[in-house]
Formats: sequence, structure tokens, C-alpha cells
Amino acid sequence: MKENFFIMDHPLIKHKISLLRDKRTGTNEFRALVNEISMLMGYEALRDLPTENVEIETPLEKCMTPMIAGKKLAVVPILRAGLGMTNGILALAPTAKVGHIGIYRDEETHEPHEYFCKLPDPIEERIVLVTDPMLATGGSAVTAINFIKEHGGNHIKFMCLLAAPEGLGKLSAAHPDIQIYVGQLDRELNEDAYICPGLGDAGDRIFGTK
Ligand code: PRP
Ligand code: URA
Repeated sequence: MKENFFIMDHPLIKHKISLLRDKRTGTNEFRALVNEISMLMGYEALRDLPTENVEIETPLEKCMTPMIAGKKLAVVPILRAGLGMTNGILALAPTAKVGHIGIYRDEETHEPHEYFCKLPDPIEERIVLVTDPMLATGGSAVTAINFIKEHGGNHIKFMCLLAAPEGLGKLSAAHPDIQIYVGQLDRELNEDAYICPGLGDAGDRIFGTK
């Protein structure tokens, strides 16, 4: 079966992810980097948006020229850390609607817990781009996408900055119909289910909490 994930190979994305990993990178710079990488990855993730030819009048003549067509876009960050990726996508697609799914991972069991969900209507008529910087065990992403499908979402993409092989395997197997965009694939999870080498706790680094 064809793989449903894409690992970024652009040097700009690689460089910026290396800066994110650096523990000396402070909150302000971290946020700006997440924003920039999300925009670069969004360019890739939205490459299959359908277009249709429309008539435009240039200063010289009328012509038929392509514009984005078909399904409208919804960006759905998984709270909290996915929020940091939203503006990068909205810079590319300013008319996209934004939903939110709140999920936190239990520190002991690493199981996901949902605490908030609000999706734009009609979700079944939209391309849904779910964002979360970290795909670790995959529990949060699988839960979020289950929820979107239960509410009618049928054209779903997932975008993360770092993935562990465990999480990528789990998400890909649970939802083989979605497209998964990964900034970089890391080595493994540690015993606390953190991605190694990783970048630490993405939410804390974006929001300056501890
Ligand atoms: C982090 C991260 C993902 C999740 C990934 O969120 O942003 O949502 O963990 O782990 P998983 O693949 O094992 O489910 P966290 O639970 O720390 O919440 P936060 O974003 O509010 O800090
Ligand atoms: N969540 C994070 O923020 N970082 C990890 O490495 C794993 C889960």
C-alpha cells in the first residue's frame, strides 16, 4: 500500500527545526520559528488544492487564469501547542475557518484526554488541516481525527513539526485515508513518551510556561 505520510526535505525547514531543538532558543524566537516552519510546510501540504480557471481582465486583455476552487479550508489546531502553527497557515489561506480541539496527555499514562471541541460548519464540505507540532505516541492526533470524522470530516490532513516512529506508525495505521506532513522524523520515544532528540515540551516552549 502507498505510504500516506510525507517527510519534508527542504533545507530551510531542516535549518529552522534545528534552531527549534536548541535549548537556548527563547520563547519569542521559538514562536517565530514555529510560525515560519508552519508556513513553509503549509505551502507543501496545500499543493493539491484544486484550482479552476476564471476570467480576469488584465490591463491588456481578458484571460482565463487559475484560482483556488472547490472545498474550503478549515485549520484545526490541537490545543495548546497546535495553536502556534495556525497563523503560519492563515498567512497562506487567510479565508480559512479555524476550529479547536483541546487535548492534553496524562503525565503518567500518556493517554489523551479531550477537554474542548469546536469545529467550523459544514465540516464535511471542508479540507481539514489538523496541526500539532509533536506526534509522539500518536494518541492525541488519533483522538482528534476520530472526533473530526465522527462529526462528518472526510478530507483530512495532519501536519506536525516532529514525529516519533511510534506515533507516525500509529496515526498512519489508524487513519490510512489522511495525508500526514512531518517536518522531521526523530529517533524514538523515551520512557516518559517524549520525542528524542526532540525539542522538549512544545506547548511550554511556545507559551513560556513550565
Ligand atoms: C503535547 C503535544 C501533542 C501531544 C503529543 O501536548 O502538543 O498534543 O503532547 O503526544 P502524543 O502523540 O503522545 O499524544 P500536551 O499534552 O503536552 O498538551 P499542551 O499542548 O497543552 O502542552
Ligand atoms: N509532547 C511534547 O510537547 N513533546 C514531546 O516530546 C512529546 C509530547
